[in-house]
Amino acid sequence: MLKTIDSLGELRGKRVLVRADLNVPLDGTTITDDGRIRAALPTLTRLVEAGARVAVISHLGRPKGAPEDKYSLKPVVGRLGELLGQDVAFATDTVGSSAQEVVAGLEDGQVAVLENLRFNPGETSKDESERLAFAEQLAALGDAFVSDGFGVVHRKQASVYELATLLPSAAGELVLREVESLRKVTDSPERPFVVVLGGAKIADKLGVIDSLLGKADRILIGGGMAYTFQKAQGYEVGKSLLDESKLDVVREYLERGEKNGVELVLPVDTVVAPEFSADAPATVVPSSEIPSDQEGMDIGPETAKLFGEKIADAATVFWNGPMGVFEFESFAKGTSSVADVLSKAPGYTVVGGGDSAAAVRILGFDESLYSHISTGGGASLELIEGKDLPGISILEEDSK
Ligand code: 3PG
Ligand code: MG
Repeated sequence: MLKTIDSLGELRGKRVLVRADLNVPLDGTTITDDGRIRAALPTLTRLVEAGARVAVISHLGRPKGAPEDKYSLKPVVGRLGELLGQDVAFATDTVGSSAQEVVAGLEDGQVAVLENLRFNPGETSKDESERLAFAEQLAALGDAFVSDGFGVVHRKQASVYELATLLPSAAGELVLREVESLRKVTDSPERPFVVVLGGAKIADKLGVIDSLLGKADRILIGGGMAYTFQKAQGYEVGKSLLDESKLDVVREYLERGEKNGVELVLPVDTVVAPEFSADAPATVVPSSEIPSDQEGMDIGPETAKLFGEKIADAATVFWNGPMGVFEFESFAKGTSSVADVLSKAPGYTVVGGGDSAAAVRILGFDESLYSHISTGGGASLELIEGKDLPGISILEEDSK
């Protein structure tokens, strides 16, 4: 059982640090998908109503331990204020004089956002004592800690892990809802249990495939990671994304899938283009015949149809990772068609992942059409994989 906000007792007048994941996609300073900000609202509203003085801490992007304008959380503050219906203060540093002044100036029920945690080297340091030292500076700003940045609970970072050891701590509403929804998929999924995986980085997905080869009934693979599978089957993939170092592992997965009776479904056709750009001419080719001067950009229409058939009768579906370069309109159809089939599937449907969740909303699908849309990419995968997540275990009732 995770510790809940109730366990923190009376919060009126108390300074509560809330770790959120406000790492939203930005185009300059324009937020292109505010899903993660909206996901932070249940906890924030609850604390505001309880009269707490709320200091929100978050990262944005991957700055390297020093301030960088393009990673400032400033653009997020206005949107958060609009959604909360109240002014939100902003501190231009995380633990320095600005943060201290802003937090000291909060009245009961007011909210502030502190600047990007990752502008401080201690946040992501590999050295535990450096992380602890930074967490101590954070802890000095609060009387209690609520961990609600689900997207980052798989990271052993100062604001996710060490901070929870220093203050009375609890899991926020988002973390509780995410864990509950994702455990429904892993613990005893209704069958057929179908998993759809995509996205560019195959290395991030190997663990989950490994674990799902013992659990899922079907695994459908699209997106950038599919080309490594196709290459492992002996096909040429042209200029497509390829992770040569993973070919052996992937071959072993293909064999194990067959042995375990898990159906691994790969693309049968591919949308290719001569270069990676929005207006590159798109052609559909069989997946086994990608020309050497072309690169795969999306799954083709036959694959979309095939995936649709494999999803239609599923009782449980977990989807992580886009099927193609959905940011470019001519290569968004595969992702859009999976989003569409999933939205109509009668079973328990979970969209996991920063990118696939954003894709669903950017492509215009209503969130209510899915059972659960996760705010975490890596975090939801690691949870499905059955890993121990540092930011979750530290919130267990029997942890320190
Ligand atoms: C994400 O977008 O995946 C989360 O915000 C975590 O960010 P990270 O992968 O940079 O740790
Ligand atoms: Mg990530």
